Amino acid sequence: MRVEKVVTSGTFNLDGGTWDVDNNVWLLGDDDQVLVIDAAHDAEAIAKAVGDREVLAIACTHAHDDHVNAAPALAERVGAPVLLHPADDVLWRLAHEEDRPADTLSDGDILRVGDVEVRVLHTPGHAPGAVCFHVPELNVLFTGDTLFQGGPGATGRSHSDFPTIVDSIRDKLLTLPPETTVHTGHGGDTTIGAEAPHLEEWIARGH
Ligand SMILES: [Fe+2]
Repeated sequence: MRVEKVVTSGTFNLDGGTWDVDNNVWLLGDDDQVLVIDAAHDAEAIAKAVGDREVLAIACTHAHDDHVNAAPALAERVGAPVLLHPADDVLWRLAHEEDRPADTLSDGDILRVGDVEVRVLHTPGHAPGAVCFHVPELNVLFTGDTLFQGGPGATGRSHSDFPTIVDSIRDKLLTLPPETTVHTGHGGDTTIGAEAPHLEEWIARGH
């Protein structure tokens, strides 16, 4: 079982603004099967990284357009379902004319990839339906835009809330083992142990 990263580039659009962004797309799997975490910008590049492996699902950390804009195209290409927390339907509709994914993610769900369990943690704040994916056996956490190297994801735009993201990070993420590697939606990795001491600083600065 291994984790692979594909970096894709495009734009993030919300509240009338457009920003150039690089996104991390994560593949969790082995030689036969893979779970794709987020489908950003470039279905072709992601499909190439998947190769001839079976895609179990495309699991979305949240539905900001930079994380889901390639999801329908990739789903069609690889024949896999798209999984999204229903609280992010509002954001999905901003990104796509297509219907929301038929399959949902809920807090406490367990996805299986090979013989490892992927636990779904609902962590609202950056987006109402933001989730993180925890793989206890590998000591790995995929946080999307909820937790980065250096602090919480942005909460300044529509459908975001700073006190809510602080609650999510404090209660659901910083309670995980300190040695847990955090694979984020943009930029570099961090660990729970590296971030946990800074919670009060983030609260004091307000972002
Ligand atoms: Fe986001």
